[in-house]
Amino acid sequence: MVADPKPLSAPGTRRAALDVILLHQHPGGGYPACPTFEVYGYSWFRDGAFIAEGADRAGAARSARAFHKWCARVLTSRAERIESIVSTLRSGGTPTSREWLPARYTLEGEDEGDTGWWNFQLDGYGTWLHLLVTHLRRHAGDPEPYREAARLACEYLAAAWNTPCFDWWEEDSHQRHGATLASLEAGLRAAVGAGLVAGDTADRARTAADEIAAAVRREGVRDGHLVKWMGGPDAVDASLLAALTPFGLLEHSLAGKTLAAVERDLLHEGGVYRYLEDTFYGGGRWPVLSALLGWHYARTGRLREAEQMLHWMDGLFTEDGLLPEQAPEGRRLAPGREQEWLDRWGPNATPLLWSHGMYLILAHELGELDSKPV
Ligand code: BGC
Repeated sequence: MVADPKPLSAPGTRRAALDVILLHQHPGGGYPACPTFEVYGYSWFRDGAFIAEGADRAGAARSARAFHKWCARVLTSRAERIESIVSTLRSGGTPTSREWLPARYTLEGEDEGDTGWWNFQLDGYGTWLHLLVTHLRRHAGDPEPYREAARLACEYLAAAWNTPCFDWWEEDSHQRHGATLASLEAGLRAAVGAGLVAGDTADRARTAADEIAAAVRREGVRDGHLVKWMGGPDAVDASLLAALTPFGLLEHSLAGKTLAAVERDLLHEGGVYRYLEDTFYGGGRWPVLSALLGWHYARTGRLREAEQMLHWMDGLFTEDGLLPEQAPEGRRLAPGREQEWLDRWGPNATPLLWSHGMYLILAHELGELDSKPV
């Protein structure tokens, strides 16, 4: 645990938002989700992929590269385990809970051990592949160091995509989630499209991506919009926005109706809730989701609204220049449930490096970021 999480540059500047990421990145490349929050001292593939993207856009390509290499090492050092999971799945079996790859690792890249935490999540591997390809394209980077890891990730996802697992929020492990499936489809398509994988692996990745797209349209759409999980009621989850931006997976009408449902149910004065039933820390608004929506607005020419999202995030920095996981002020969906989390884990995670990464992405989309190499 790092005692002092403060950035070095003047708090409130965009450079300071990057400093927080750089300050806490492990020398081996992993990013802790939050350096001061006991249970977030791990590096998640999901959080980290977005953090790396933010850092990369802010000029810290070296930091992003170190993270992507960390991911590649995590995967290649588990090649045997991954091959065994894939062969179990292909023969119709089910891997044990200890075999599945976790969502997060220690900063050194080790499994965290048997903590019983909600660890089986597939989405991070897809998000990583997608944003790795974005990084390589941006820098015309050498794909060679990533090929074996990408092959393992694609084989894993192509075999496992239809398995229920915890979602982006580490909840509802018995469902197949729209946002998770979007991450997987996006990652598989990116790896194939960039030529990171070839031959039979590419064939399997392409087939799985097509099957995911078909399954989502068959089981994951109500009233013309995506829903939180396959076969679920018509409720949305803001993580579904990723299917629009950055993943770009949806046709016009499905995208428009999904966006409208999220705006209608989850957007409140610049802040975005995760989903209506959320009770975690009382269910406040999440900066990472405001940035995700703002990113989509910026991509689709709704610049004034994108600016508003960035402005809302500007107001969330602590005096020390840190962004939290949830907005401390404003309407909560389940105010009576906040105290139990405060008692369990202490104050809400701050700084959340994923919030910092997303903030940088949005500022960059709006041309408001100094991207001088650092
Ligand atoms: C969130 C996850 C996130 C983790 C670390 C959890 O509370 O639900 O999405 O990956 O924190 O930031």
